[in-house]
Amino acid sequence: MKKRLLTGLQPSGALHLGNYFGALKPFVDLYQDYDSHLMVVDYHALTTIKDPSTLRQNTKDVIRDYLAVGVDPSEAIIFKQSDVPEHTELAWIFECLVTVPFLELAHAYKDKVAKGLEANAGLFNYPMLMAADILLYDTEVVPVGQDQKQHVEYTREAANKFNIAYGDTFSAPKEMILEGVGVIPGTDGTKMSKSYKNTIPLFGTKEEVQKAVMGIVTDSTGERPENVFSIHKLFRPESELVNLYEENKGSYKTLKEALLDDIEKLITPMREKRESITDEEIKSVLKEGAEKARARANAKMVEVRKKIGVTL
Ligand code: ADP
Ligand code: TRP
Repeated sequence: MKKRLLTGLQPSGALHLGNYFGALKPFVDLYQDYDSHLMVVDYHALTTIKDPSTLRQNTKDVIRDYLAVGVDPSEAIIFKQSDVPEHTELAWIFECLVTVPFLELAHAYKDKVAKGLEANAGLFNYPMLMAADILLYDTEVVPVGQDQKQHVEYTREAANKFNIAYGDTFSAPKEMILEGVGVIPGTDGTKMSKSYKNTIPLFGTKEEVQKAVMGIVTDSTGERPENVFSIHKLFRPESELVNLYEENKGSYKTLKEALLDDIEKLITPMREKRESITDEEIKSVLKEGAEKARARANAKMVEVRKKIGVTL
């Protein structure tokens, strides 16, 4: 029996190299050794995206990205969160088990409040929906970047609370954060993130990628442009890079061009594949994925509903 693995990305904007190296590539490298599930979490994205056509387009784009980076839909269940209503149903049950002060400690919520912004109740409950995503499928391994560690801790706590209240039902999942890719730096040296406008797009045009790379912040004091180097490390062994950076000491433009070349080598074949994927193919992958995911989620919910006392 293969172990169960699951991860998901929000359709909240174009994916970047941080998403690729932190979450997608680890998934692609591993998924065939596991019983794998790959989601697009559209209800999570609803906490920020209010425009239906944007949500629709982003959702199709993320599925297209999954296929373009090499996930074979016959070897993983690829599905859309909203196609499996059991996710929101189980989230509600968890919300009735955890306390407000416990959810108030979540980073995403705390950060929003700290900035003086108003958080919607969906953002507040976000960790319980994520717990449902993971626990519905008896997931054992969750490949994610470092920033999601706390969410997986919340998931374990939701499982624990449920098991204490209703008896053993959910097992504790474990995050998988691969060494060296837990926090991919952006063009300004801080964590690459859609919200910080410091991303290098995964599937931008050549010009967009070039603009981002040329915009990597370099300081004029050091001999090696560290921000360029730390992104470059994702593409080539460090031993090779040390020589390249030594030979081109001080020539930031040459080094950025070398990085750009390496990024293009990786992206070009995936970009070509991406362009060949039709909307029909996406719909058919999602239809099949939804059926398989629903069958599993429904079986688990039959058990959960009986245990909590809503099945008469
Ligand atoms: P963003 O911060 O750009 O909004 P998300 O929160 O949508 O990214 O993250 C999607 C997935 O990509 C998560 O598993 C997250 O941990 C991973 N991820 C995002 N940014 C990075 C990064 N800079 N380094 C490593 N992993 C990342
Ligand atoms: N919270 C994750 C993010 O922002 C997305 C996510 C939702 C997820 N449900 C999940 C990731 C389940 C892994 C497993 O990136």
